[in-house]
Amino acid sequence: MKEVMIVTGAGQISMAIARRIGYGRKIVLGDKNMDNCNTIAKIMNDAGFDTEPFEMDLSSRESILAMIAKAQEFGEIKYLVNGAGVSPSQASVEAILKVDLYGTAVLLEEVGKVIANGGCGVTISSQSGWRMPQLTAKEDFQLAMTPTEELLDLDILKPENIRDTLHAYQMAKRCNEKRVMAECVKWGKRGARLNDIAPGIIVTPLAIDEFNGPRGDFYKNMFAKCPAGRPGTADEVANVAELLMSDRAAFITGSTFLCDGGATSGYFYGELRPTEKGAI
Ligand SMILES: NC(=O)c1ccc[n+]([C@@H]2O[C@H](COP(=O)([O-])OP(=O)(O)OC[C@H]3O[C@@H](n4cnc5c(N)ncnc54)[C@H](O)[C@@H]3O)[C@@H](O)[C@H]2O)c1
Repeated sequence: MKEVMIVTGAGQISMAIARRIGYGRKIVLGDKNMDNCNTIAKIMNDAGFDTEPFEMDLSSRESILAMIAKAQEFGEIKYLVNGAGVSPSQASVEAILKVDLYGTAVLLEEVGKVIANGGCGVTISSQSGWRMPQLTAKEDFQLAMTPTEELLDLDILKPENIRDTLHAYQMAKRCNEKRVMAECVKWGKRGARLNDIAPGIIVTPLAIDEFNGPRGDFYKNMFAKCPAGRPGTADEVANVAELLMSDRAAFITGSTFLCDGGATSGYFYGELRPTEKGAI
């Protein structure tokens, strides 16, 4: 029987990771957009992978549970890749919090209840969460530990306390990092690991929407002036995921890895430093 892998988000980052580690495994690929899902599943199956497209909405626990049940038809779930998400130019504050923050938290929780011994997972946050100023220790604890159904009731996530969609996205991605830390403790009890990658600007449909959105010039400047001097590729994110999902990372769990061409460093200590206080 093949090992079973759940992949959420039929996007470029998910596909690059799935192609790197999914060969010979049963891949259940979930996306809300079935055009994307069927397209990516076909590209992969035409290249010899065994991919099952599945309609799912990351913002719904019911939908996540349905995807888990589908994957379990093929055996015990051993791998999770969470690359579904929406960006600040694609969605409202509410949708970003529901998909990127709540949905990811529920997915990590539910897969963590059934993940196989020796299994591992990787979720995708963002460098964007690193540019936001530090939260208090109490706020970090709340993001990490609040029961999933109460998360969106936290004061710091109430609509009146979220400035705009970028702020919502940054809170969601910060929350992803904290949930990975909290969940990895539970995953560890099952003999499984969980990590996170925070990519910088990676050329994908999501990033292209950002280039064409209200912050397009900001992002173009960011990759031009970051130490790498260019945007990254989904395959470069997959390089990190391949390590994290392999036995060579057996001592790595609960970690977030920046993969941003140095943009975060440039933002704090280099040419990308904001000139006006509060600019992001
Ligand atoms: N591309 C970048 O520059 C970049 C940078 C940092 C972080 N990220 C993160 O990487 C992840 C993957 O993005 P990508 O760049 O591969 O984008 P992408 O546009 O190629 O893929 C994202 C996929 O997620 C799906 N999706 C959106 N909402 C969903 C929902 N509610 N349920 C299920 N699927 C849903 C979309 O339909 C799409 O197929 C996202 O979480 C994004 O925030 C991307």
